[in-house]
Amino acid sequence: MVSQIMEKELNKQLNAEMYSGYLYLAMAAYFEDTDLGGFANWMRVQAQEELSHSMRFYDYIIRRGGRVSLDAIEKPKFKWDSPIDVFKQVLSHEITVSGLINNLVDLAIEEKDHATNNFLQWFVEEQVEEEESATAVLNKVTLASESSNGILLVDSEFASRVFSPDSSE
Ligand code: FEO
Repeated sequence: MVSQIMEKELNKQLNAEMYSGYLYLAMAAYFEDTDLGGFANWMRVQAQEELSHSMRFYDYIIRRGGRVSLDAIEKPKFKWDSPIDVFKQVLSHEITVSGLINNLVDLAIEEKDHATNNFLQWFVEEQVEEEESATAVLNKVTLASESSNGILLVDSEFASRVFSPDSSE
């Protein structure tokens, strides 16, 4: 059985993952509006991954005899200045999420909740990947922005990204 404080913090993270999905959907809509359909596709896939992350928390809370409590999702930003601006925010957002996961691990250790600590380790590794991937994409988009057709080439590359449930499980 999960403790009350742990249940509350796991529910907060469920919400934070939903917000990540909302943020990336807002970024997808920005790219749709600027006719970069490949970038929009990349962000839609990212949003799907975040929804699957929130469902991991949803399912885990239930498995531990806790109560899922859904809160309002914060309104994400609406507009960005450029693709570089978007991916700078993706990276800084993922660094923030890594901090949230680390805080949860700290709490699980404090509470001697080994099961939750174990559950969270998947997210510890996932955040390493998220930061790595966001850095790589930011670098690629920064380089691409230096030539006239660079962004269009990246756009066509991003059009082929597909959601793979396996990579988010
Ligand atoms: Fe849920 Fe982008 O990590």
